[in-house]
Amino acid sequence: MAKIKLNVVRGDSETNRDLVEYEVPFVEGMSLLDGIFWIREHIDPSLSVRYSCRSANACKECMAQVDGKVAFLCSTRAEDESVVTIEPLKTKAWVKDLTTVME
Ligand code: FES
Repeated sequence: MAKIKLNVVRGDSETNRDLVEYEVPFVEGMSLLDGIFWIREHIDPSLSVRYSCRSANACKECMAQVDGKVAFLCSTRAEDESVVTIEPLKTKAWVKDLTTVME
């Protein structure tokens, strides 16, 4: 089965910040946000991420650090067998997991 590995920051300001590895089935054309949705549906529904439009960078709510660079999770395509680290934005106050304060 084709798959990707997503290393996702978990935790909040009251717990330890942790990097958790998830193995996610790869589907051609899937976005990193699709991978996060798969984790929420199949492994841990408490994984926090902010989004609205789910495409086209219209709402800009899914912005995160992807392998150290700012990117939109909904428009960043996953590549088969890739290993990707996803962290909350460093420039905004952290709330939980991938969620930061909106201004
Ligand atoms: S969900 Fe709206 S820009 Fe990504």
